[in-house]
Parts: sequence; structure tokens; C-alpha cells
Amino acid sequence: MTRLAKCDLLDEGAAARLTWDDGREARFHAIWLRDNALDPETRSATNGQRLITLQDIPADTRISAAAIAGGDLEVAFRPEGRTVRFPAAWLRDHIYDRANPPAAGWQAAGIETWDAMLNADEITGDFATISQDKEALRLWLGHVRRYGVAKLTGGPVRSGALLDVAALFGFVRETNYGRWFEVRTEVNPINLAYTGLGLQAHTDNPYRDPVPTLQILYCLENSAEGGESQVVDGFRAAERLRAKDPHGFDLLSRYCARFDYRGSADVHLSARRPMIELAPDGQMVSVRFNNRSTAPIIDVPYDDMAGYYAAYRRLGEIIDDPVMVVRFKLEPGDSFIVDNTRVLHGRTGYAATGGSRWLQGCYADKDGLLSTLSVLESRRLEDAA
Ligand code: FE2
Repeated sequence: MTRLAKCDLLDEGAAARLTWDDGREARFHAIWLRDNALDPETRSATNGQRLITLQDIPADTRISAAAIAGGDLEVAFRPEGRTVRFPAAWLRDHIYDRANPPAAGWQAAGIETWDAMLNADEITGDFATISQDKEALRLWLGHVRRYGVAKLTGGPVRSGALLDVAALFGFVRETNYGRWFEVRTEVNPINLAYTGLGLQAHTDNPYRDPVPTLQILYCLENSAEGGESQVVDGFRAAERLRAKDPHGFDLLSRYCARFDYRGSADVHLSARRPMIELAPDGQMVSVRFNNRSTAPIIDVPYDDMAGYYAAYRRLGEIIDDPVMVVRFKLEPGDSFIVDNTRVLHGRTGYAATGGSRWLQGCYADKDGLLSTLSVLESRRLEDAA
């Protein structure tokens, strides 16, 4: 059990240094502790939402007294005179006293980047099992969070069955392509996806803002020669670019590209976003890469444009490099899901005659998937307790 051993006040109560019984230390500011107080006047006991604004807390809030009680922290604030208790484990989970974040392009905890060595079987689940078994579902959703991709086999061979995959964790995001769309060879296609052409690995719909954060592709027929699915980890590609060409990485993350789609008469979508998007503290947030829908890029200064194009080319070469690509051929009833903010998908070309290839695709939202996963994990912990 996590217990605190000691609390020392710093800067006349403007902060406190806590020491846990395993020797770990961390400092917390008085204003931070007061804002995050867990008492029922600060946080709703029913929904956990904060009941006060920051302005309700005096700007000169200090810790007037602090004590360890039963291994937890008990702290009194002045000038309010309020005393609040913080569990030692809660404080441990919320430590922010650490050195500056690592170099630009760092990955969040729990993200594992990969290349062609990723074993597709290890991220594959059985549709019937996952539909019935919450533990199997938790493991499968965990693959999506960790690797940005997971496969399913043995699903029903029925038009619209991909909606059952989305329903495992959340909701479909409807777009101008419909609740779902058909991916097969069409006459006069509104999108090159609906031809037999090979498609370079890409993220979908970078011309939307926000982009669809998940995509499901579900196979109903696949007897055509070719038409293998391919996935590439865009985060690993960006990491490789950073290692090879740090300046190029900087250009692709610092400047916005433009993306555009007007494939049918009643639609014009456009977005202005970087190909490699970083959070303000440098965390890698997303990758957008789609040769078909990149518009003229006009937000890179003249002096940087040649370097930007060299970096864009280099990123494309990394994405096309066979050592980056995981390939598999979907059978009817198989599907895969990608985190469309991270993992690129593509396919090899296939013959329009002799056999057939019919996939259905839909979009969904990653926040819903992560929410379902988080709840499954919490319930598992509760069951184990
Ligand atoms: Fe696509």
C-alpha cells in the first residue's frame, strides 16, 4: 500500500515536499493542491466534476499546516481555513515535479512504435470471442491504444457488419461518405480508393478537421489477385525521420501543410495542419500523410520550402520502405482497425477482372474507444481488489 512518510513545507507554505515511505519525493504547490482538493465542496461526490472556479480560491493561498495521518496527507489552507485530505496513492498518481520533457517527438506512456517485425497475429482477435468476453475485448482495445492497429477474424460475412465492430467500443462517425462506404472498383469513382489501383500508405481524410480518429475496414470479398492490406506506423516513420534528418522533422512539424477534397459536386473539405503534429511540449500527437489529397502548400516560407520538400520526400521514402510495412490479406469476415491519427494504411493493386474485392469502411472516434478501455480496466482492478 502506498503511504506517505513525511511532509516539509517550502517557501512559507507556498509549496510542500512530500516523501513516500519508499523514499520517493515530489513537490506540490499550495495553489495546485487547493484547486485539486477532493472534498465534496470542491468536487461533486456524484460525478467528480469541480464545483468551484479558480477565482473562488484566494490567489495568495498557502499551506498553513500539513500532517501525515494514516499514511495520507492532511493539509490546511490559509486564508480559507479549509482542511483537506489527500490519499497518498492519489498524490503519487499525480506527481508533476519532474525535469523538463524530453526532446520534441516524445511518445506518451503506453505507446509502442513498430515496423515490419510487428507480428499481425499478436494483434488479432476473434470476433465472436471479443463480442462476448470483456477480458478479450479489453486486450484487443489495448492493442489499438498501444500499437494503433488491431485485426479481427471470423466476423459475419454480411453487408454492414462493420457497424458491429464499432459498437464493441463506441459509435460510428458519419461523414459525407455515409455511415459507411463501399471500397470496391467503381465506374467514375469519386475517390481513387474505389478503383483497383494500389494505394500508397496514407492516413484517411486529412482534409477534415478534426480528422476521423479511427477507421475500420471490413472485408466481404477478396478473391482478386493482389489487394493485400498494408499498415505502417506513422509515429515510427516520424521517429526515423527525426533520427536521420532532425531539421526535416522540425520543418514538417513546425509548418502546416494543406489538404483538400472536392471529389463530388456538393462537397469541399479543406484543412491546414502539419504532417507531423506535436503538442506544445513536444509530444507526438498525430501524423497526416496522403499524397492524393495534399493541396498546394503555401504556409512554408520561400527559404524553407526546398528543405520542406526534401523532408516530405524523405518521410514518404521511409513510409514506403518495406522494413516499415506490415502486410496481410483479409479474408471475408476479417477486418482491421487503425488509429487514423497515427497508423497509415494502404493496399497493393488488384486486377479488376478475375475475382472480386469488396471491403466496407467506416470511421469512429478514438476518445470513445479509450473511454471503453479505461472503464474495462477500472472494473478489472475493482474485481481484483
Ligand atoms: Fe484510406
